[in-house]
Amino acid sequence: MAATPQERREQLVKLFHEARGCERCELSQSRSQVVFGAGNADADLMFVGEAPGAEEDRQGLPFVGRSGALLTRMLGDAGIAREDVFIANTLKCRPPSNRDPEIAEIETCRPWLNEQIRLIEPRVVATLGNFATKLLTGDKTGITRVHGRPQVRQIGTRTVFLLPLFHPAAALRAKGTADLLAADLATLPDLISRPLPEAGA
Ligand code: URA
Repeated sequence: MAATPQERREQLVKLFHEARGCERCELSQSRSQVVFGAGNADADLMFVGEAPGAEEDRQGLPFVGRSGALLTRMLGDAGIAREDVFIANTLKCRPPSNRDPEIAEIETCRPWLNEQIRLIEPRVVATLGNFATKLLTGDKTGITRVHGRPQVRQIGTRTVFLLPLFHPAAALRAKGTADLLAADLATLPDLISRPLPEAGA
């Protein structure tokens, strides 16, 4: 029998407690704390960024720095409240000096994200930036070519619409990118309301 939302929420809290003590890779030595992700445990829409930065590492929450402030504002402009979505990262711990995540770290960390997606049961997973997009699509095509076009993807056991988006950090650097991100975010309410794709569709 399928788990109820209450049961899934409880399992997500349990997962959070397990992840908090994670020592599966060396990042556990340099992080201040695990940044598990935050938001609505029953969200239809989930965002996946790259990895926590300095502010996220300090607060233990995703997207709480400048990129996060922009994301929150742009979500609001698209009619989406940040409290209604769940936000996570491909890596749960900050790489030292914000260096790029290493392949072994990504592989080691990936089960946490897959389990989050299994328990939250989002309809749409929006990937923020090249890194999360390439990882979750399994395709090397860059964000400039794929942004804003939904794909049907299986992530772990869950089939979702995956929407590649520019990373808000890139939108902070270039007005043109911010405009593209805003236009893509505006498509999300419609995408969320579409019937859920079948596996392999
Ligand atoms: N950038 C990310 O990719 N994730 C965060 O949580 C913050 C900044």
